[in-house]
Amino acid sequence: MDIQGAALVGLCYIPVLYFAYSAFATDPVTAAAGLVILAMSAYILLETMSHGSVSSSNKAVFITGCDSGFGYSLAERLDELGFKVFAACLFHDGDGAKALRERCSNRLHIVQLNVSSDQQVQEALTFVRENLGDSDLWAVVNNAGIGMFGELEWVKIEDLQKVMDVNAVGPVRIIKAFLPLLRKSKENPRIVNVNSVAGRFTLACGVPYSMSKHACIAFTDGLRRELKKFNIDVVSVEPTLYKTPLGNPDTLKKNSEQQWEQLSTDVKSDYGQGYFDALCKVLPARFQAMASDNVDAVIATLVTAVTIIKPKRRYIPRLTASFRVWILEKLPYSIQDRLLVAFQPKVAVAWAKGRET
Ligand SMILES: NC(=O)c1ccc[n+]([C@@H]2O[C@H](COP(=O)([O-])OP(=O)(O)OC[C@H]3O[C@@H](n4cnc5c(N)ncnc54)[C@H](OP(=O)(O)O)[C@@H]3O)[C@@H](O)[C@H]2O)c1
Repeated sequence: MDIQGAALVGLCYIPVLYFAYSAFATDPVTAAAGLVILAMSAYILLETMSHGSVSSSNKAVFITGCDSGFGYSLAERLDELGFKVFAACLFHDGDGAKALRERCSNRLHIVQLNVSSDQQVQEALTFVRENLGDSDLWAVVNNAGIGMFGELEWVKIEDLQKVMDVNAVGPVRIIKAFLPLLRKSKENPRIVNVNSVAGRFTLACGVPYSMSKHACIAFTDGLRRELKKFNIDVVSVEPTLYKTPLGNPDTLKKNSEQQWEQLSTDVKSDYGQGYFDALCKVLPARFQAMASDNVDAVIATLVTAVTIIKPKRRYIPRLTASFRVWILEKLPYSIQDRLLVAFQPKVAVAWAKGRET
């Protein structure tokens, strides 16, 4: 909330304060009631103010992974709200970067950034430092990420290393570079990490992605505790599944085919062609069926995480999703094990069929 907003809210409380004041002049019971009203209105005033938004003036936000999906829309939205946006793109001449240049104000800068490259991270930092002008770096949003799905036994170690490097080490690389600049901010700055519910629960056939998001949540929680001494807030945003390029059905199918191709004959015969064919159908179909179209809900949550005066530690976009997650968290492991196999085909593997005969 900006200063005018706070003043307006304050004005609305004048009648309440007057009532509380007049209560003191009468009997003790009315005075006690007056005191309660006074305390409650002070509480509501503080709550209202902390739920308001910061002013965007002279504030810059650095966002990774703005070529598409959540990062792209968040960059656009924060630009509309008047922030100076540094939209880091994996391809600074790609379609996403071009569209952002065309659609946004000249406050928005495109920055070339592969979060796996130490050199590009340093170059991005230099670019931000040189183009901040009279703005402070208010927030860093670690959004860049890649998906990696399929049977864990089929995933190549280098592919697992890649997903860990982009999704888990990438945000650490960014934060280690940007912290000194964040600390220079006149107001208490913040870090927003786009994690995932997959960082709390691990779906069968989603293990590499979940491993990386579990690591990123550990990073988020630890960082928040360590940065409290610098008054830097660290926020975790944990969406469920949404329809973005990350879960593109064709890419999911292609990845499964590539994983299958490089397996040894032994492993292939243990799973069987039937199981592979079923996985190629089930994985993209279930992903699409479970993913929500309501990407705007995620963007609204990300905007809240970046702009609210007093952010929560953890956000799960959409009330229904956070309720489902809350229920899942309470269930015993035996039931979680039965539920978290949605990406896996129900077809028996060839090895099991062999045992039956
Ligand atoms: N969609 C979901 O269901 C979902 C759910 C929970 C959490 N998330 C998380 O949300 C974040 C954004 O994902 P999204 O769903 O919006 O998918 P997305 O559209 O694929 O966005 C990911 C972005 O990261 C970029 N990127 C990929 N590798 C990179 C690298 N090495 N360095 C820098 N940027 C890189 C991508 O660039 P290119 O487009 O050029 O590849 C893309 O712009 C990710 O961290 C993801 O894990 C997504």
